Amino acid sequence: MQDNGLLTAIDVGTSKISTILGRKVGAGQIEFLAHSMVPSRGVRKGNVADVRATHEAVRQSVDDVRRQSGKTVASAYVGVTGGHVDFENLWRSMSWAGAHGFITAHDLSRIQTEVDAAVVGDNRRMIHTLAREYSVDGYSGIRNPEGMHSKDVRVGAHVVTGSADAVDTLVGSVEQAGIRVAGLVLQPLASSEATLTQSEREGGAAIVDLGCGTTDIVVFKGGAVTYSAAIPVGGYQFTNDICLTYGTPFQAAEDVKLRYASTEPYTVRTDEDVMLDVDGQRAPLRLPRRDLCLLMRERAHELSRLVLIKLREAGFDGDPDFSVVITGGSATMPGLDQLMHRTLGTRVRVGAPDRPPGLPESLRSPAHSTGVGIMVWALKQERELAEARRMNGAGEPGASSGGSMFARFFKRVRPVLQTGQDDTAS
Ligand SMILES: Nc1ncnc2c1ncn2[C@@H]1O[C@H](COP(=O)(O)OP(=O)(O)OP(=O)(O)O)[C@@H](O)[C@H]1O
Ligand SMILES: [Mg+2]
Repeated sequence: MQDNGLLTAIDVGTSKISTILGRKVGAGQIEFLAHSMVPSRGVRKGNVADVRATHEAVRQSVDDVRRQSGKTVASAYVGVTGGHVDFENLWRSMSWAGAHGFITAHDLSRIQTEVDAAVVGDNRRMIHTLAREYSVDGYSGIRNPEGMHSKDVRVGAHVVTGSADAVDTLVGSVEQAGIRVAGLVLQPLASSEATLTQSEREGGAAIVDLGCGTTDIVVFKGGAVTYSAAIPVGGYQFTNDICLTYGTPFQAAEDVKLRYASTEPYTVRTDEDVMLDVDGQRAPLRLPRRDLCLLMRERAHELSRLVLIKLREAGFDGDPDFSVVITGGSATMPGLDQLMHRTLGTRVRVGAPDRPPGLPESLRSPAHSTGVGIMVWALKQERELAEARRMNGAGEPGASSGGSMFARFFKRVRPVLQTGQDDTAS
């Protein structure tokens, strides 16, 4: 059994698997106990492509935090992304609400279950149902209808689903490492939990998580999520461009990118050279650093144009008050924030996790936004679950720490996943 009060986040990324272990202390606070990061070899463009390689890496990462902390880790919240993720903004009547003459918090807590049941098809899995706004007696734009005297209430929800195959494979990979999945979190939504400010969410903002395999986007307006998307381009493509252009092996290209790349070639001196290994040649290639940066700028331009297309889809019309927060490992490429600013025509900043209080320095970098955000999300989920139990008067017997949505989710996927797994978590 997992120690009481422990929270674990696993970010199954394309380049790294990151596990963070913490303990809930006081209201909304986490004591960080351990963190481990191991290379990820089974994930392509955010999807698990090799189950064995992924569960071995997850196991290694979790064993590492177990060793560091001396704690038992039995369950975790896990991030999900990839081209299989889709969203829909829809309206549903809350026919169950207002039975006591007014709308209660319990009525609102049922949205997840009631809307899930209505929209999930056989080949899709529910990831989130996020309330955007409500309409009461025909008046829309209501942020919180709790306490209003009406039975005519509708919810406008942002519903995020993933393909059953991809989601089950991700969950199966983690479970085969002996970890029960307490809940899934859309990766850029997690990143936003660790980096976006409340005023950015209110005024209109996008989190753009530039990872290795994907660039994930979530857009907020009026405090709520209105749009999500995943572009299958990330740091991998920047490195691959170096490989293809100069015939460089991948690791050598990655090293050169991390040391010398910038998307602002004209800030680099003309006489500065870099040495590049080339396949099949003993002597390295001498290359003006500016050429390397020009190549990176081309890729960055293309990616920023793809981001602009997605933001327009989300309703962005060039409003200069709209904020874009770029995060993820690739957001640390020098110059990328300025280039994005020029393409998008709005303010852009690089976001790194700055909460919850007590967050160690080692986790305050853009590559950790998703992992830290999963912890913040998990903390909120557990608080909401505890609140829902309190309102119901009693806890569901045997309910998981992952909340009702995930308890039901797992009832649906467990039978598919149990084959061949060593279930040391239960
Ligand atoms: N200074 C830098 N300049 C350019 N790229 C960088 C820099 N630092 C990290 N990266 C790139 O960031 C990427 C890793 O970022 P991150 O850890 O956020 O990805 P991930 O979470 O593993 O992938 P994904 O979220 O796409 O599944 C790698 O492609 C790496 O080359
Ligand atoms: Mg990532």
